[in-house]
Amino acid sequence: MFKIKPIPSDRLPTLLRLMPKAELHMHIEGSLEPELMFALAKRNGLTMPYADVEALRGAYVFDNLQDFLDIYHQGTLVLRTEQDFYDMTTAYLTRAAADNVVHTEIFFDTQTHTGHGLSTEVVINGLHRACVDAQATLGVSAVLILCFLRHLSEAEAFECLEQAEPFLDKLVGVGLASSEQGNPPEKFARVFAKARALGLRAVAHAGEEGPPAYIWSALDDLKVERIDHGVQAMNDPLLMARLVKDKIPLTVCPLSNLKLRVFPTLAEHNLGRLLDAGIVATVNSDDPAYFGGYINQNFTETFEALGLGAPQAYQLARHSFEASFITDARKAQFIDRLNTTFESFN
Ligand code: ADE
Ligand code: ZN
Repeated sequence: MFKIKPIPSDRLPTLLRLMPKAELHMHIEGSLEPELMFALAKRNGLTMPYADVEALRGAYVFDNLQDFLDIYHQGTLVLRTEQDFYDMTTAYLTRAAADNVVHTEIFFDTQTHTGHGLSTEVVINGLHRACVDAQATLGVSAVLILCFLRHLSEAEAFECLEQAEPFLDKLVGVGLASSEQGNPPEKFARVFAKARALGLRAVAHAGEEGPPAYIWSALDDLKVERIDHGVQAMNDPLLMARLVKDKIPLTVCPLSNLKLRVFPTLAEHNLGRLLDAGIVATVNSDDPAYFGGYINQNFTETFEALGLGAPQAYQLARHSFEASFITDARKAQFIDRLNTTFESFN
């Protein structure tokens, strides 16, 4: 393993910002900032149920995942056209590039939007066009992961996948999001099997609020390659051993966990303990417009709260490439860039 030079603690935020990284867990609808939400509402002739941006931001107080999902769903109502999806995605990619995100695997769902009368085509084409343009204008590579909504039925997930099939070349994988408790992964075993048979990669949210049993089910029933969140795995030593042995990455989102009260304070977050246990953990922003920050905010606040340093920064950035769905050759190129950043940093 590459040897990490010690650095003074006041230089750590600069290193965290400069190091190239991949973001593997963010929901594009959760990157819709209040300012853009109001602008899209105006463009589409819609009235926002809040007086202004401050009033809307003031409503972002959550006790749990469901509280958040209700307000998040309301925010998606301003998205009406392909250009809206393009603009939202371009705003996220521009912000991510400023944090030195060089590759990102973006979650989105179509069921929310088809539920509002939009077509799958409008959603996917808007997102995909923004990803293609970002490679040219920002030098960021971006791919798309379609998430099924787990509070809906298996039949609705099959319908969602069928509607997405004409656009398979614009997707890298499928995921599972929305209300976790009471909606275990096994409900979607057959639709995940179909998605994998179509050549899509598979990930799932599990062990965010839900028990370790949901993580086992995501691995064994859905056969996912990564677990989104997964922080509850620490309550099950056998599961921890499995994650380490099989090098199953966890896409951890510390500020999300704080805002949704998965951990009472960031100082009690288990990111450092997951790394110490040998887990391929990564840091991600989840829904940055709602949870108080983009990826670098997640890094800097969590590193400060947990007293982490340059070795963990290197590990987390390296894991983000290793856990991504890019080719081994591209992983090696990004890791070379990461090594150069650490070697030349002083
Ligand atoms: N959809 C958007 N953010 C989510 C989260 N943190 N958990 C589950 N579903 C989500
Ligand atoms: Zn998420």
